[in-house]
Amino acid sequence: MRKPLLAANWKMNMTLNEVKEFIKVLNDAQIDYKEKDILIAPPYIYLQELKKRLKKVKISSQNIYFEESGAFTGEISPTMLMSIGIDWTIIGHSERRQLFGDTDDIINKKLLLSIQKGLNVILCVGEKLQEREAGIEKELVISQLGLDLKDVTPEMMKNVVIAYEPVWAIGTGKTAKSQDAEDMNKAIRDFLKRRFGRKISNNTRILYGGSVKPENIKELMSRENIDGALVGGASLKPDSFLKIVNF
Ligand code: PGA
Repeated sequence: MRKPLLAANWKMNMTLNEVKEFIKVLNDAQIDYKEKDILIAPPYIYLQELKKRLKKVKISSQNIYFEESGAFTGEISPTMLMSIGIDWTIIGHSERRQLFGDTDDIINKKLLLSIQKGLNVILCVGEKLQEREAGIEKELVISQLGLDLKDVTPEMMKNVVIAYEPVWAIGTGKTAKSQDAEDMNKAIRDFLKRRFGRKISNNTRILYGGSVKPENIKELMSRENIDGALVGGASLKPDSFLKIVNF
């Protein structure tokens, strides 16, 4: 049984006051934490505030650097995150790939170091619109996974969640049809089975992300291979995120 994971990716949004208000609403809300995992990935500067005040929620960074320490101005290492009690990070989000030059090779380095240091990772993969229109979306995503998971052992997969996020669905209001998302997540699970065996493939959570909102979460979550969601825009307001969490 895979426990559903509902994850908020705040990207570069929220002021401290908005964060405090969000925390208050979430702490007052009824959420069955035994039945599902809730995760919030805020900008780095709010990690500790959230960690301190939201005891049952998993708190994650949105990115990480692939060196432990040194002259890398502006970067944060897995070791530093662990030292403040943060044990989750997103890696390979399409905005990092497109705007900040994260290649599959860089993503692989980030993933390996993060897991080695004890972090849990949400690894994002997904095709661009041209790739879907050309009908090569599955090959593309499986090839990304092969590169991003290079040298990862079955044992290390305990720390990995995969998020399928078609680039054309992110922040556009266009959600993938739940059947298309299911088909891709199934293809990802089949890849995991070939690469790591049946047990790892059955146990690994595969999320969907891209314009998830209160109106479409139930349909997405009804699919066999969709184990949760990575939510951007609709996670910024507590009431909307709560509707998604309590789908
Ligand atoms: P969105 O973003 O929900 O705003 O489409 C999802 C994501 O980028 O993780």
